[in-house]
Amino acid sequence: MSAAPTPEAEWLNPHDLRRVCDFLYRHTGMVFGESKRYYIERRLRDRIAITRTSGFAAYFDLLRADSREREQLINAFTVNETYFYREEHQLACLSRSLLPDLAAARMPGDKIRIWSAPCSTGEEAYSIAIWLLENWRMVDAYNVEIVGTDIDTIALDAAHDGLYGERSLSRLTPAVRDAYFEPEVNRHRRIIRDLKDSVSFTQANLVDEGTLGGLGTFDVIFCRNLLIYFDDESRLRTAENLFNRLNPGGYLCLGHTESMSRISDRFLVRRFEDAIVYQRTGPDA
Ligand SMILES: C[S@@+](CC[C@H](N)C(=O)[O-])C[C@H]1O[C@@H](n2cnc3c(N)ncnc32)[C@H](O)[C@@H]1O
Repeated sequence: MSAAPTPEAEWLNPHDLRRVCDFLYRHTGMVFGESKRYYIERRLRDRIAITRTSGFAAYFDLLRADSREREQLINAFTVNETYFYREEHQLACLSRSLLPDLAAARMPGDKIRIWSAPCSTGEEAYSIAIWLLENWRMVDAYNVEIVGTDIDTIALDAAHDGLYGERSLSRLTPAVRDAYFEPEVNRHRRIIRDLKDSVSFTQANLVDEGTLGGLGTFDVIFCRNLLIYFDDESRLRTAENLFNRLNPGGYLCLGHTESMSRISDRFLVRRFEDAIVYQRTGPDA
Protein backbone atom coordinates (compact mmCIF):
# COMPACT_ATOMS: atom_id res chain seq x y z
CA MET A 1 0.00 0.00 0.00
CA SER A 2 1.47 3.39 -0.95
CA ALA A 3 1.60 6.23 1.58
CA ALA A 4 -0.87 9.11 1.21
CA PRO A 5 0.82 11.97 -0.69
CA THR A 6 1.91 14.85 1.53
CA PRO A 7 0.76 18.30 0.46
CA GLU A 8 4.42 19.29 0.00
CA ALA A 9 4.96 16.58 -2.60
CA GLU A 10 1.97 17.50 -4.70
CA TRP A 11 2.15 19.72 -7.77
CA LEU A 12 -0.99 20.77 -9.58
CA ASN A 13 -1.45 19.33 -13.03
CA PRO A 14 -2.80 21.75 -15.66
CA HIS A 15 -6.35 20.41 -15.27
CA ASP A 16 -6.38 20.96 -11.48
CA LEU A 17 -4.74 24.36 -11.82
CA ARG A 18 -7.57 25.35 -14.18
CA ARG A 19 -10.18 24.08 -11.68
CA VAL A 20 -8.73 26.31 -8.97
CA CYS A 21 -8.53 29.33 -11.29
CA ASP A 22 -12.11 28.76 -12.45
CA PHE A 23 -13.26 28.47 -8.85
CA LEU A 24 -11.58 31.75 -7.88
CA TYR A 25 -12.90 33.49 -10.96
CA ARG A 26 -16.47 32.34 -10.37
CA HIS A 27 -16.42 33.40 -6.73
CA THR A 28 -14.41 36.64 -6.85
CA GLY A 29 -14.05 37.87 -10.44
CA MET A 30 -10.25 37.78 -10.02
CA VAL A 31 -8.25 36.28 -12.85
CA PHE A 32 -5.53 33.74 -12.11
CA GLY A 33 -3.69 31.51 -14.57
CA GLU A 34 -0.55 29.57 -15.35
CA SER A 35 1.63 32.67 -14.84
CA LYS A 36 0.59 32.70 -11.17
CA ARG A 37 1.24 28.97 -10.65
CA TYR A 38 3.76 29.47 -7.83
CA TYR A 39 1.46 31.90 -5.97
CA ILE A 40 -1.52 29.54 -6.38
CA GLU A 41 0.33 26.39 -5.33
CA ARG A 42 1.82 28.03 -2.26
CA ARG A 43 -1.56 29.19 -0.96
CA LEU A 44 -3.27 25.95 -1.83
CA ARG A 45 -0.64 23.92 -0.04
CA ASP A 46 -1.13 26.08 3.06
CA ARG A 47 -4.89 25.41 3.00
CA ILE A 48 -4.33 21.68 2.44
CA ALA A 49 -1.99 21.62 5.44
CA ILE A 50 -4.32 23.66 7.67
CA THR A 51 -7.37 21.54 6.80
CA ARG A 52 -5.31 18.32 7.08
CA THR A 53 -6.72 17.03 3.83
CA SER A 54 -4.70 14.39 2.00
CA GLY A 55 -4.09 16.30 -1.21
CA PHE A 56 -5.68 18.38 -3.93
CA ALA A 57 -8.57 16.04 -4.76
CA ALA A 58 -9.66 15.72 -1.13
CA TYR A 59 -9.25 19.44 -0.60
CA PHE A 60 -11.35 20.28 -3.65
CA ASP A 61 -14.11 17.97 -2.36
CA LEU A 62 -13.98 19.81 0.96
CA LEU A 63 -14.17 23.13 -0.85
CA ARG A 64 -17.35 22.11 -2.59
CA ALA A 65 -18.97 20.93 0.64
CA ASP A 66 -17.85 23.57 3.13
CA SER A 67 -18.72 27.26 2.65
CA ARG A 68 -16.42 28.24 5.53
CA GLU A 69 -13.45 26.72 3.69
CA ARG A 70 -14.50 28.50 0.47
CA GLU A 71 -14.33 31.75 2.43
CA GLN A 72 -10.87 30.89 3.80
CA LEU A 73 -9.52 30.03 0.35
CA ILE A 74 -10.79 33.33 -1.05
CA ASN A 75 -9.23 35.16 1.92
CA ALA A 76 -5.91 33.46 1.10
CA PHE A 77 -5.94 34.76 -2.49
CA THR A 78 -6.92 38.38 -2.01
CA VAL A 79 -4.33 41.16 -2.20
CA ASN A 80 -5.05 43.57 0.65
CA GLU A 81 -2.43 46.28 0.03
CA THR A 82 -3.76 49.61 1.32
CA TYR A 83 -2.78 52.53 3.57
CA PHE A 84 -4.18 55.75 5.03
CA TYR A 85 -4.53 58.74 2.71
CA ARG A 86 -3.78 56.66 -0.40
CA GLU A 87 -4.22 58.84 -3.50
CA GLU A 88 -4.90 61.85 -1.33
CA HIS A 89 -5.88 64.01 -4.31
CA GLN A 90 -9.16 62.07 -4.52
CA LEU A 91 -9.92 62.86 -0.89
CA ALA A 92 -9.24 66.52 -1.73
CA CYS A 93 -11.66 66.19 -4.65
CA LEU A 94 -14.25 64.71 -2.29
CA SER A 95 -14.15 67.62 0.17
CA ARG A 96 -13.55 70.42 -2.34
CA SER A 97 -15.85 69.39 -5.21
CA LEU A 98 -18.01 66.29 -4.77
CA LEU A 99 -19.53 66.93 -1.36
CA PRO A 100 -20.17 70.66 -1.89
CA ASP A 101 -21.94 69.72 -5.14
CA LEU A 102 -24.05 67.00 -3.48
CA ALA A 103 -24.77 69.13 -0.41
CA ALA A 104 -26.04 72.01 -2.56
CA ALA A 105 -29.10 69.91 -3.42
CA ARG A 106 -29.79 68.85 0.20
CA MET A 107 -30.98 70.27 3.46
CA PRO A 108 -28.78 70.42 6.56
CA GLY A 109 -29.22 67.17 8.48
CA ASP A 110 -29.80 65.13 5.32
CA LYS A 111 -27.95 61.88 4.89
CA ILE A 112 -24.92 61.61 2.59
CA ARG A 113 -23.75 58.02 2.09
CA ILE A 114 -20.18 57.12 1.11
CA TRP A 115 -19.06 53.58 0.25
CA SER A 116 -15.50 52.27 0.39
CA ALA A 117 -15.63 49.16 -1.80
CA PRO A 118 -13.40 47.28 -1.43
CA CYS A 119 -12.15 48.60 1.90
CA SER A 120 -9.60 45.85 2.64
CA THR A 121 -8.39 46.34 6.25
CA GLY A 122 -10.29 49.61 6.69
CA GLU A 123 -7.71 52.32 6.01
CA GLU A 124 -9.67 53.80 3.08
CA ALA A 125 -12.96 54.08 4.97
CA TYR A 126 -11.30 55.57 8.06
CA SER A 127 -9.26 57.91 5.83
CA ILE A 128 -12.49 59.30 4.38
CA ALA A 129 -13.84 59.90 7.90
CA ILE A 130 -10.63 61.58 9.11
CA TRP A 131 -10.25 63.63 5.94
CA LEU A 132 -13.77 65.01 6.20
CA LEU A 133 -13.34 65.91 9.87
CA GLU A 134 -10.10 67.71 8.99
CA ASN A 135 -11.05 69.27 5.67
CA TRP A 136 -14.79 69.69 5.15
CA ARG A 137 -16.17 72.39 7.40
CA MET A 138 -19.78 71.31 6.64
CA VAL A 139 -19.20 67.82 7.99
CA ASP A 140 -21.35 68.40 11.08
CA ALA A 141 -24.20 69.93 9.07
CA TYR A 142 -24.96 66.64 7.30
CA ASN A 143 -25.54 63.09 8.42
CA VAL A 144 -22.54 61.49 6.71
CA GLU A 145 -22.60 57.70 6.72
CA ILE A 146 -19.48 55.75 5.70
CA VAL A 147 -19.71 52.05 4.88
CA GLY A 148 -16.75 49.78 4.10
CA THR A 149 -17.19 46.40 2.38
CA ASP A 150 -14.84 43.70 1.18
CA ILE A 151 -15.06 40.06 0.14
CA ASP A 152 -12.25 39.10 2.56
CA THR A 153 -13.55 38.31 6.05
CA ILE A 154 -10.08 38.40 7.67
CA ALA A 155 -9.47 41.88 6.24
CA LEU A 156 -12.88 42.93 7.59
CA ASP A 157 -11.99 41.64 11.06
CA ALA A 158 -8.86 43.81 10.94
CA ALA A 159 -10.97 46.79 9.83
CA HIS A 160 -13.28 46.27 12.82
CA ASP A 161 -10.26 45.98 15.08
CA GLY A 162 -8.76 49.24 13.76
CA LEU A 163 -5.17 48.55 14.83
CA TYR A 164 -2.48 49.81 12.43
CA GLY A 165 1.31 49.75 12.08
CA GLU A 166 3.72 52.24 10.55
CA ARG A 167 3.29 50.92 7.00
CA SER A 168 -0.37 51.93 7.10
CA LEU A 169 0.10 55.17 9.01
CA SER A 170 3.15 56.60 7.25
CA ARG A 171 1.29 59.31 5.29
CA LEU A 172 -0.49 60.73 8.33
CA THR A 173 0.98 63.73 10.17
CA PRO A 174 1.79 63.40 13.90
CA ALA A 175 -1.12 65.77 14.64
CA VAL A 176 -3.60 63.57 12.78
CA ARG A 177 -2.22 60.44 14.45
CA ASP A 178 -2.60 62.01 17.87
CA ALA A 179 -6.12 63.25 17.16
CA TYR A 180 -7.60 60.02 15.78
CA PHE A 181 -5.52 57.17 17.23
CA GLU A 182 -4.81 55.91 20.72
CA PRO A 183 -1.20 56.15 21.95
CA GLU A 184 1.27 53.76 20.35
CA VAL A 185 1.63 50.26 21.82
CA ASN A 186 4.15 47.83 20.33
CA ARG A 187 4.59 50.13 17.31
CA HIS A 188 0.84 50.02 16.55
CA ARG A 189 -1.93 52.56 17.05
CA ARG A 190 -5.64 51.91 17.35
CA ILE A 191 -8.35 54.13 15.86
CA ILE A 192 -10.20 55.98 18.63
CA ARG A 193 -13.62 54.67 19.59
CA ASP A 194 -15.58 57.67 18.23
CA LEU A 195 -14.09 57.29 14.79
CA LYS A 196 -14.52 53.52 14.80
CA ASP A 197 -18.19 53.95 15.63
CA SER A 198 -18.66 56.36 12.73
CA VAL A 199 -17.76 53.73 10.09
CA SER A 200 -19.50 50.39 9.55
CA PHE A 201 -18.04 47.33 7.85
CA THR A 202 -19.72 44.35 6.23
CA GLN A 203 -18.97 41.66 3.67
CA ALA A 204 -19.99 42.12 0.04
CA ASN A 205 -18.85 40.70 -3.27
CA LEU A 206 -18.75 43.31 -6.01
CA VAL A 207 -19.31 40.80 -8.80
CA ASP A 208 -22.33 39.27 -7.06
CA GLU A 209 -25.29 41.64 -7.09
CA GLY A 210 -27.15 39.42 -4.63
CA THR A 211 -24.72 40.45 -1.87
CA LEU A 212 -25.12 44.18 -2.57
CA GLY A 213 -28.86 44.84 -2.42
CA GLY A 214 -28.98 45.12 1.38
CA LEU A 215 -26.44 47.95 1.33
CA GLY A 216 -28.85 50.48 -0.17
CA THR A 217 -27.59 53.21 -2.48
CA PHE A 218 -24.77 55.71 -2.14
CA ASP A 219 -23.85 59.27 -3.08
CA VAL A 220 -20.13 58.59 -3.47
CA ILE A 221 -18.36 55.28 -4.10
CA PHE A 222 -14.63 54.72 -3.78
CA CYS A 223 -13.81 51.59 -5.80
CA ARG A 224 -10.06 51.78 -6.00
CA ASN A 225 -7.46 49.17 -6.89
CA LEU A 226 -9.82 46.30 -7.50
CA LEU A 227 -10.57 46.39 -11.24
CA ILE A 228 -6.85 45.78 -11.91
CA TYR A 229 -7.36 42.17 -10.75
CA PHE A 230 -10.35 41.59 -13.04
CA ASP A 231 -10.86 40.73 -16.72
CA ASP A 232 -13.23 42.73 -18.93
CA GLU A 233 -16.24 40.58 -18.05
CA SER A 234 -15.77 41.01 -14.27
CA ARG A 235 -15.09 44.73 -14.77
CA LEU A 236 -18.32 45.13 -16.70
CA ARG A 237 -20.30 43.23 -14.09
CA THR A 238 -18.77 45.39 -11.34
CA ALA A 239 -19.44 48.58 -13.31
CA GLU A 240 -23.12 47.60 -13.62
CA ASN A 241 -23.32 46.78 -9.92
CA LEU A 242 -21.68 50.08 -8.94
CA PHE A 243 -23.97 51.99 -11.28
CA ASN A 244 -27.02 50.39 -9.67
CA ARG A 245 -25.75 51.23 -6.16
CA LEU A 246 -25.17 54.93 -7.03
CA ASN A 247 -27.87 57.51 -6.55
CA PRO A 248 -28.55 59.56 -9.70
CA GLY A 249 -25.96 62.36 -9.72
CA GLY A 250 -23.70 60.30 -7.42
CA TYR A 251 -19.95 59.97 -7.97
CA LEU A 252 -17.57 57.06 -8.46
CA CYS A 253 -13.80 57.30 -7.76
CA LEU A 254 -11.52 54.64 -9.25
CA GLY A 255 -7.81 54.01 -8.61
CA HIS A 256 -5.42 56.14 -10.66
CA THR A 257 -4.50 53.26 -13.01
CA GLU A 258 -8.17 52.34 -13.55
CA SER A 259 -10.68 53.81 -15.94
CA MET A 260 -14.30 53.30 -16.97
CA SER A 261 -13.69 54.39 -20.53
CA ARG A 262 -13.21 50.89 -21.99
CA ILE A 263 -15.71 49.25 -19.63
CA SER A 264 -18.97 51.17 -19.58
CA ASP A 265 -20.43 54.29 -21.18
CA ARG A 266 -23.11 54.70 -18.51
CA PHE A 267 -21.01 57.11 -16.44
CA LEU A 268 -20.25 60.71 -17.24
CA VAL A 269 -16.54 61.59 -16.99
CA ARG A 270 -16.10 64.60 -14.69
CA ARG A 271 -12.79 66.47 -14.58
CA PHE A 272 -12.39 68.35 -11.32
CA GLU A 273 -9.37 70.34 -10.18
CA ASP A 274 -8.03 67.50 -8.01
CA ALA A 275 -9.16 64.35 -9.82
CA ILE A 276 -11.11 62.76 -12.65
CA VAL A 277 -14.19 60.96 -11.35
CA TYR A 278 -17.28 59.30 -12.85
CA GLN A 279 -20.85 60.37 -12.31
CA ARG A 280 -24.08 58.46 -12.63
CA THR A 281 -26.34 60.21 -15.04
CA GLY A 282 -29.98 59.40 -15.56
CA PRO A 283 -33.42 60.95 -15.74
CA ASP A 284 -33.15 62.23 -12.17
CA ALA A 285 -29.56 63.51 -12.36
C1 LIG B 1 -5.67 46.23 -3.14
S1 LIG B 1 -7.05 46.18 -2.06
C2 LIG B 1 -7.72 47.79 -2.33
C3 LIG B 1 -8.12 48.47 -1.03
C4 LIG B 1 -8.47 49.95 -1.12
N1 LIG B 1 -9.61 50.18 -1.99
C5 LIG B 1 -7.29 50.76 -1.59
O1 LIG B 1 -7.27 51.20 -2.76
O2 LIG B 1 -6.36 51.00 -0.81
C6 LIG B 1 -8.14 45.10 -3.00
C7 LIG B 1 -9.24 44.47 -2.17
O3 LIG B 1 -10.22 43.93 -3.05
C8 LIG B 1 -10.87 42.87 -2.37
N2 LIG B 1 -11.63 42.08 -3.36
C9 LIG B 1 -11.18 41.22 -4.30
N3 LIG B 1 -12.20 40.72 -5.01
C10 LIG B 1 -13.33 41.28 -4.51
C11 LIG B 1 -14.71 41.16 -4.84
N4 LIG B 1 -15.14 40.37 -5.83
N5 LIG B 1 -15.60 41.88 -4.13
C12 LIG B 1 -15.20 42.68 -3.11
N6 LIG B 1 -13.90 42.83 -2.76
C13 LIG B 1 -12.99 42.14 -3.45
C14 LIG B 1 -9.72 42.15 -1.71
O4 LIG B 1 -10.15 41.36 -0.64
C15 LIG B 1 -8.81 43.32 -1.27
O5 LIG B 1 -9.02 43.63 0.08
